[in-house]
Amino acid sequence: MLEIWGRSTLKGHVQISGAKNSALAIMAGALLCPEDCRLRNVPSLMDVQRMAQILAALGLKMEQHGDVLDINGRDIQQSQAPYELVSQLRASFFAIGPLLARLGVARVPLPGGCAIGARPVDLHVRGLQAMGADVQIEHGMVHAYVSGSNPRLKGAKIYLDYPSVGATETLMMAATLADGETTIENAAQEPEVTDLANFCQAMGARIRGAGTNTIIIDGVKSLHSVEYSIIPDRIEAGTFLVAGAITHSELSLSPIIPDHLTAAIAKLRAIGAKVILESPTCVRVIGANSHVATDIETLPYPGFPTDMQAQFMALLTLSEGDSVITETVFENRLRHVAELNRMGADIRVKGNIAIVRGVPMLSGAPVVATDLRASAALVLAGLAANGKTTIEGLQHLDRGYDNLVGKLQNVGARLQRLKGDKEAESESASLNTANLGG
Ligand code: EPZ
Repeated sequence: MLEIWGRSTLKGHVQISGAKNSALAIMAGALLCPEDCRLRNVPSLMDVQRMAQILAALGLKMEQHGDVLDINGRDIQQSQAPYELVSQLRASFFAIGPLLARLGVARVPLPGGCAIGARPVDLHVRGLQAMGADVQIEHGMVHAYVSGSNPRLKGAKIYLDYPSVGATETLMMAATLADGETTIENAAQEPEVTDLANFCQAMGARIRGAGTNTIIIDGVKSLHSVEYSIIPDRIEAGTFLVAGAITHSELSLSPIIPDHLTAAIAKLRAIGAKVILESPTCVRVIGANSHVATDIETLPYPGFPTDMQAQFMALLTLSEGDSVITETVFENRLRHVAELNRMGADIRVKGNIAIVRGVPMLSGAPVVATDLRASAALVLAGLAANGKTTIEGLQHLDRGYDNLVGKLQNVGARLQRLKGDKEAESESASLNTANLGG
């Protein structure tokens, strides 16, 4: 459990970690390479540890020292990812692409739904079928294989019905070793997709157009060793920008890539906070004495990120006027509303729309986190609230935030994990030195 005493003014500088959603996809991408991969700026997260365990179970050699992760995929032994691990980490499904491309066969558990939505994988499957794979889904398992003496995927033209981040990443990775050219149209344009493409190119892949809605991949026979540094986490940075605004404080953050934060910064300025780009890698936020309502609609990049929706909702609960928040990416991502209302917010929900009526003050209360970004929103609300807030469900926070509590304490926030979680803390502390097996 986390205890927060609100109404502290924050001050100082926050170091932003590597991007979770890049690290997970790039770790899966290491499956494509029969040589050494050295990844730098790897965030210290539960999800990263889980992905490492899955890769180790497939036979990859893994070693992590600090934020450096060494992976060697020469001896992949398995084409089947273990159910108990995959069921805990949806992103591990992306491994089906590189496994199939590398081995001609892959068996990966169907990830199933999660707190924020049904999360189907039909776009991944349809794309792999277009590249010549035979895909069967039985007993909760996706079996994919390429027949023939030299089982190699074939280049194909693929149109995605929705610019899915995961489907774009899975298919882009699969196409790197395919025979011929693959075109992915209506592709996702998220910075994490571009980061993955840059990683694959650094291993010798031939990819054009990453970051646009059309990606073209010319398949190559094999890839080579690489050393690659992961981009900073724009969602972690966005979360700290909101922390500065909601506590009327002044904070600076780095490293960041300003372009990746355009939508979040535009909304913060519309709400009344001051946001200054101090250098190409550093941003400063200065919270105003009062903030005003604004409407938000989540969209695929470069639209407003769904992964920032909950955090901005927390800020808008304390902004003068009515804000309309429309969640268009996931069908069940407003579960933090009930908990914010428990803290005195005034939010009504109709379908995927939340109408947030600003209130003068939130009051501390016991609340429960339901998913990763909801947990961040409750921490932010707790920082602004009168009195003490306690948050249960910190396993969500640890999945996606690298030492959020420590970083907030460093800039003057009054919060602490209660004893029960010390074990979790010591476990996450051990991440940095362990031989992650295999
Ligand atoms: C990635 O998830 C991120 N996760 C999510 O971040 C993020 O919210 C999401 O992209 C959108 O930006 C990782 O990168 C590990 P999608 P992903 O496929 O790839 C539907 C966080 O908080 N869809 O772009 O799973 C799907 O149901 C997490 O860090 C299909 O219908 O997202 C959803 O409604 C949460 N069929 C929409 O597309 C498919 O085959 C967007 O999903 C695939 C997706």
